[in-house]
Amino acid sequence: MAALEGFLVASLLLSCLASTSYGATFSSLQKTLVVSASHQQGKVLKAGEDEITVTWSYNNSFPAGTDSAYKTVKLKLCYAPVSQQDRAWRKTEDDLEKDKTCQHIIVSRPYSPSKSNITWTVKRDVPTATYFVRAYAYNSADEEVAYGQNTDAHMATNLFQIEAISGRHASLDIAAVCFSGFSVVSLFGFFFSEKRKAKSSQLK
Ligand SMILES: *[C@@H]1O[C@H](CO)[C@@H](O)[C@H](O)[C@H]1NC(C)=O
Ligand SMILES: *[C@@H]1O[C@H](CO)[C@@H](O)[C@H](O)[C@H]1NC(C)=O
Repeated sequence: MAALEGFLVASLLLSCLASTSYGATFSSLQKTLVVSASHQQGKVLKAGEDEITVTWSYNNSFPAGTDSAYKTVKLKLCYAPVSQQDRAWRKTEDDLEKDKTCQHIIVSRPYSPSKSNITWTVKRDVPTATYFVRAYAYNSADEEVAYGQNTDAHMATNLFQIEAISGRHASLDIAAVCFSGFSVVSLFGFFFSEKRKAKSSQLK
């Protein structure tokens, strides 16, 4: 029991320490990755169905070796400013541990400077919003050291919209409820009319 308490206190302390430790800031990252995302301009992607192809590579304008500490690359789906307004839970923070801009991981891959790509089906739990794609490069300590994104510094170009599955399912569900309501009513209707028929034939 005491051991368990000790363990709990220790892990609590550790998690406090961890949360106060150094965290990378977005403004300190070099933009050394080139990222592009294929999507038809104006087409709304359906979560759980539609695909997006993301391509990324090292920007060779930077001196060779700038990427020597890069170990992994994570591609993330990020909320565009228009979908962050009045939503504190999607707020951009320079401290990347607190940043809530990019909440949906597309893929995590070992870093390679050459051109890589992934064709990704938008996950079913992605909410309706306007997005862009950002790639973060991580060092061996799993800290962000560089990035790239398929949009400009103001997150205004090349954005795309995703429509959540829930909205579509809600309307399907409503249709299903209406339909079953309708069948219950018609079943009762059938039942009563048969009963009445039976009664009237009995009376004859
Ligand atoms: C590569 O980096 C240079 C220097 O920062 C920049 O001017 C250029 O636009 C970048 N290339 C691409 C394709 O993003
Ligand atoms: C994606 O990568 C594969 C394998 O490297 C390559 O054959 C393919 O042409 C690439 N596709 C795009 C769209 O870049």
